[in-house]
Amino acid sequence: MISPKDFLRKNLKMVHGYPMICVFADNWEKVEQFHSRRDDIVIATYPKSGTTWISEIVDMILNDGDTEKCKRDFITAKVPMLEMALPGLRISGAEQLEKNPSPRLVKTHLPIDLLPKSFWKNNCKMIYLARNAKDVAVSYYHFDLMNNLEPFPGTWEEYLERFMTGNVAYGSWFDHVKSWWKKKEEHPILFLYYEDMKENPKQEIKKITRFLEKNLNDEILDKIVHHTSFGMMKDNPLVNYTHLPKTVMDHSKSSFMRKGITGDWKNYFTVAQNEKFDAIYNKEMSGSELQFRTEIKEPTQQI
Ligand code: PPS
Repeated sequence: MISPKDFLRKNLKMVHGYPMICVFADNWEKVEQFHSRRDDIVIATYPKSGTTWISEIVDMILNDGDTEKCKRDFITAKVPMLEMALPGLRISGAEQLEKNPSPRLVKTHLPIDLLPKSFWKNNCKMIYLARNAKDVAVSYYHFDLMNNLEPFPGTWEEYLERFMTGNVAYGSWFDHVKSWWKKKEEHPILFLYYEDMKENPKQEIKKITRFLEKNLNDEILDKIVHHTSFGMMKDNPLVNYTHLPKTVMDHSKSSFMRKGITGDWKNYFTVAQNEKFDAIYNKEMSGSELQFRTEIKEPTQQI
C-alpha cells in the first residue's frame, strides 16, 4: 500500500537524462509505450507557460465556442497530461487519454527527446506555447510551494539558482524552448508566445483556429477571449485546479491561477539576480532566433 509520504515532496528522478517528478518517473513505461492517434492535438509547454490557458482555448475552438460543452468535465480530464501519474487518482494521464474520444487534446511538458515516438510517426499537430524565462521562474517557484508532488523549492534565491542550471522538473528552460523551436522546421508545430496572447488574445486565437483548420466568426472569437480571460479562469472551478486534493495542491500556499501577468519577475528578482540571469540567458540563447519579451504594453482586448 502506497502512502502519501512515498510520493510527496520527493527528490526528482532522472529519466533519460532529464530530472522528472518522482511519481511520474515511476510510470515511465506507460508514457514511452503510448499510442498516438493521427488526429491527436498535442499542447506542449515548459511548465508554467500558460498550458491551462491554451488548453481551454483549444477546447473552446474545437467546440465552436460553446461554453456549455466546455463545462462537460475538469480540464485534467478534457486535456489530460500524458506523463501524469498519481497513486490515489483513479487513472493516469495516459489511461485517461486512452478513454477520451478523438480528436484528443494531449497536454505535456515533455522535452522533444522524451515525447513518445508515436506522435512524430503519426505527424500529429502540435501547439507549443512559450513564456519568458523570468516570469516562468517566478511562477514555477510559487507552484512548487503549493504542489506537493514537486520537491520543496526552498528560498527564492536557492530556487532561482536551480532554475538557471536546469535542476528542476523537466530540466532546462533554455534547452526546452530551443529544441521545440528547432523541431518546427520538420514538424507541424504552431509556436506561440504567452506575451503575445496577453497582448492580443484574439489575434493569437485566430492563429490557432487557422492551424486547426476551423473557421469561427468574430462573435465566437470574442466569446472565447472572454471565457478564457484570466479573471474568468481564476473563478472557474473546472480549470483552476481547486478540484485536486489539498494533499497534492495546497492553494493556501499559493493559487494555481496566481497573477496571470507579464513582468511579475520584477517583484522578485534583485538587481544582482537579474544581472546574473541575463548573463546566463545571453550565453544560453546566443545564436538562437528566439525573441522573448519580459514586458508588454497593456492588452488591447478587454472583453
Ligand atoms: S502548469 O502547471 O505547468 O500546467 O501551469 P500552466 O497552466 O502552464 O501555467 C500557469 C500560469 O499561467 C497563468 N494563467 C493565465 N495567464 C493569463 N491568462 C489566463 N487565462 C491564464 N490561465 C492561467 C497562471 O496564472 C500561471 O501563471 P502565474 O504567473 O503563476 O500567475
